[in-house]
Amino acid sequence: MSKEDFDKGAFKTPGLRSVTLSAPFMRDGSEPTLESVIEFYGRGGDVEKNRSSFITKLELCVQEKEDLLEFLQALEGEPIVVTLPQLP
Ligand code: HEM
Repeated sequence: MSKEDFDKGAFKTPGLRSVTLSAPFMRDGSEPTLESVIEFYGRGGDVEKNRSSFITKLELCVQEKEDLLEFLQALEGEPIVVTLPQLP
């Protein structure tokens, strides 16, 4: 991370492969379901401080929310196996 003020509150964008298998979501587990993640994006997120002007309310209709959910579900495959690194 750059330590620049501009980057405060920014996080690495995670891959979404098999995201269905790793609830709860977000780095702090604050979203229990993919439906609630979609609601979160729909309202433009929860934190205003340092938020990019590109992030705005999506105002999704019911069909769009269902389509996004199906898209995320379609990314399910083999569970991703992570090997923990050996800490010094
Ligand atoms: C409707 C559009 C979007 C959907 C459906 C979506 C979906 C998701 C999901 C399901 C996660 C949780 C991943 C996990 O916990 O393993 C996530 C996290 C994340 N997404 Fe998105 N995303 C969208 C738009 C965006 C956009 C536009 C950006 C960047 C400009 C973005 C950046 C991120 C970041 C940084 C995280 C990690 C946040 C954290 O861990 O707290 N996403 N997204």
